[in-house]
Amino acid sequence: MPQVNEELRKMQNTYEKILEDLPETRESVIPALQLVQKSRGYLPEDGLEFISNYTETPLAKVYGIATFYSQFYLEPQGEHTVKVCQGTACHIKGANEIYDALLGELGIAPGEVTPDGKFTLTTVRCLGACSLAPVMMVDEDIHGNLTPDKARGILGDYE
Ligand code: FES
Repeated sequence: MPQVNEELRKMQNTYEKILEDLPETRESVIPALQLVQKSRGYLPEDGLEFISNYTETPLAKVYGIATFYSQFYLEPQGEHTVKVCQGTACHIKGANEIYDALLGELGIAPGEVTPDGKFTLTTVRCLGACSLAPVMMVDEDIHGNLTPDKARGILGDYE
């Protein structure tokens, strides 16, 4: 299928360009993941494979790093990423109700993107703002002392 090969070649060239300033060593895996994600919005399979070859690091290791850090996404993301904290302090103060309210409001399953491409909803362990529990983060903004209604209202500000 020549068209598929053409697409693949174009993508390889794009990745080569994105990573051209990085040394071709294992130390470059994390910066390479950051650069590819910045360019594509997430880390597609072909990007992980390219990084593996480029840094001479086994694909399983690259994949392991990409899944270990919460900053990396293996699936396409919505325009806004909503992370509901599920750490102990937030859990005690009702994080599950917040999460369920947002899932209902957005009409998606965990990790999915809304049909209009606006939001992705996920959970995190602790956002480091436990005194404001329960907490969520929308993009880079922390919102605390949430109630289900307050959380739904905050989403409206990002529409
Ligand atoms: S447990 Fe939620 S911010 Fe720490």
